[in-house]
Amino acid sequence: MSRTIIVSNRLPTKVIRSEESLTFQPSEGGLATGLGSIYRADGNVWVGWPGLFVTDAEEENYVTEQLQADSMAPVFLTEAEIRDFYEGFSNSTLWPTFHYFTQFATYEQAHWDAYVAVNEKFCAAVLAQAGPEDTIWVHDYQLLLLPELLRKARPEATIGFFLHIPFPSYELIRVLPWRAELLRGMLGADLIGFHTFGYMRHFLSSAAQVLGLTAVNGQLEVAHRAVRVDAFPMGIDYQRYADAAVSEAAIQHEATYREALRDTRVILSIDRLDYTKGIAQRLRAFELLLQNYPEWREQVSLIMLVVPSRDQVAQYAELKVEIDELVGRINAAYRTIAWNPIHYFYRSLPLEELASLYRLAEVALVTPMRDGMNLVAKEFVASKADHKGVLILSERAGAARELSDALIINPTDINQLTEAMHEALVMPEEEQIQRMTAMQALVKRYNVFSWTKLFLNQLAYTKMKQQTLATE
Ligand code: G6P
Repeated sequence: MSRTIIVSNRLPTKVIRSEESLTFQPSEGGLATGLGSIYRADGNVWVGWPGLFVTDAEEENYVTEQLQADSMAPVFLTEAEIRDFYEGFSNSTLWPTFHYFTQFATYEQAHWDAYVAVNEKFCAAVLAQAGPEDTIWVHDYQLLLLPELLRKARPEATIGFFLHIPFPSYELIRVLPWRAELLRGMLGADLIGFHTFGYMRHFLSSAAQVLGLTAVNGQLEVAHRAVRVDAFPMGIDYQRYADAAVSEAAIQHEATYREALRDTRVILSIDRLDYTKGIAQRLRAFELLLQNYPEWREQVSLIMLVVPSRDQVAQYAELKVEIDELVGRINAAYRTIAWNPIHYFYRSLPLEELASLYRLAEVALVTPMRDGMNLVAKEFVASKADHKGVLILSERAGAARELSDALIINPTDINQLTEAMHEALVMPEEEQIQRMTAMQALVKRYNVFSWTKLFLNQLAYTKMKQQTLATE
């Protein structure tokens, strides 16, 4: 029977060393919860890094056994690999380039070499798991070379690739010294998926300009193989968020927060710490709101949750300092004994507490400079059981292509963002309900399960068509 092997840099479970023991916790991120439904079924398996440096073979065996029992196969990375492959090429070259932050991008041969080596390591790990009939589904920018490596080892394999971040304009791709290798790496797949048609078009344009490949009906012909390219906007596990929002725990937490906040109205912001998320610009816009609309002072607070991420990369550490300073400055300028303008948390929170924040907030600020999709926008929508609340959404998040009933803004335009916050706070309830209900219908329907099904069906269909053509 054919199985699906999911491959991503990070496993849905992370192993954390605390004192003398190891604990297994769910990783942050939509991918983990979304695909959770399929990797445990029918002998499927998820291959990836468990987020831990193992100290010896005994520990490695123990972690492997524990994860194996839960359908995961770990790829252990060394400290040097994390430095050069993960912090280096993945997060200091590809991440800034693909998010249009080329000023942060570095081009180091040693990082590239590590990227190639780690992709090869993943290839060996996948080959150890996958039989010839299995479907291999590779995820994200850390593994762009893996589809081609797998193709070379198994020419007949069914391989899908999905990119979770934006695919940028050719003008950014052309800057990369390894642009041809990266594109060829992706083209080892039978089906390449993106969140939006815009990203897909950029990819096709790069394939044409860098490799001279022209697409016919969304297909590229690569070494006598047809590669299909398409857009699949990722969804969330809608019910999980809708249920969490009405759980006893979430309602309890919300009541406690409301009491502490003395019924101050709440604007919410939730992100991983990242310069792509527009966190500093958002803080400046909130400051401008307090400055331009003094009537909101003591009436509205910003609750800002920043989830720690990639803190060994210089720009992330610097951004943390900038955010700390901005929050400190704004709070010092505007706070009163009874009211705190910004409640800032630097940590991750369990689902029930997130759900209570989503319940509490009248406005959610999802204003990234660039974002492949942004699932927080969809989680907020799924959590609004009373259909009230306003989403302020950046036009440069993939989610803006779907959630047109949000207040769509340009995140660099601080004045527009400030005005949108004011507009959201005074928006009549009927309009809120109308917009929210429309977004809920969409997020509920195009959820992570339909996304998975659509991608895997399209992959099976592409493969079937290839085989039919080959035998004709
Ligand atoms: C983004 C990427 C994922 C990544 C996640 C968390 O969503 O698209 O591939 O896993 O961020 O980042 P981290 O570097 O902690 O895995």
